[in-house]
Amino acid sequence: METISKDELASVKTVKMPRHVAIIMDGNGRWAKQKGKLRTFGHKAGVEAVRASVRFARTQHIESLTLFAFSSENWKRPQDEVSVLMELFKLVLTSEVKRLHKNGVRLRVIGDLSAFDAKLVSKIKDAEALTQHNTELQLNIAANYGGRWDIVMAAQGLAQQVVNGTMQVTDINEATFDQCTAFAHLPPLDLLIRTGGEQRISNFLLWQCAYAELYFTDTLWPDFNEDKFMEAVVDFSERQRRFGKISEQVI
Ligand code: IPE
Ligand code: IPE
Ligand code: MG
Repeated sequence: METISKDELASVKTVKMPRHVAIIMDGNGRWAKQKGKLRTFGHKAGVEAVRASVRFARTQHIESLTLFAFSSENWKRPQDEVSVLMELFKLVLTSEVKRLHKNGVRLRVIGDLSAFDAKLVSKIKDAEALTQHNTELQLNIAANYGGRWDIVMAAQGLAQQVVNGTMQVTDINEATFDQCTAFAHLPPLDLLIRTGGEQRISNFLLWQCAYAELYFTDTLWPDFNEDKFMEAVVDFSERQRRFGKISEQVI
């Protein structure tokens, strides 16, 4: 397929930007294997695609970008791969935070942090504190995140409020439930991109996906870049989001 550059695409179309994009960054292992290298080589190469995606989101004024870095199921991988991923996470946090801050990016790490070692948690807390007042882009890294975990945490939060007497059972509805999820403070999810060719959610944003547009690409994560991101956004921009209504009602 002939690739269209980001600038060419932008010049021929009026692109309606999504407010919140999430990406399942998949395909690192296969990318490395295709090159005869270890899977972990692919994870390291994927960092450049993360940088490109953040740059794209920032310069295109997307409000919020959520990246799936490590799922609650990824602990089941071979121990040495998990270790490399944790080390890489620490390294990237250390090397990128200053630049993110300089560019006005607010960083949050969303997931069950209790499973991470103390050094990593402290790096995460420092980065979140440093960038907490930034408003150019909300960058959310989903780490040890699972969509089911998020739903269970919200249920626990609500149950606790009922036990404390600050809420009635009948106060539990979609809006109050939503407020207890890990993404409550962010714009609704507009677009979910998955690289690497698989067409599944892999326990990512289950609650938040209810009306997100889904975009699957065969591009392996280390090959993802600003032009590919623009292709996804153009595709999104051409869809009609009906939210249950009929076409005539939304035109
Ligand atoms: C995604 O790439 C990165 C993580 C899950 C951390 P994979 O490692 O799943 O790559 P493939 O799917 O095996 O190619
Ligand atoms: C999903 O990818 C998790 C991340 C990209 C972080 P996986 O490669 O773990 O998903 P499955 O196991 O193929 O569904
Ligand atoms: Mg995978």
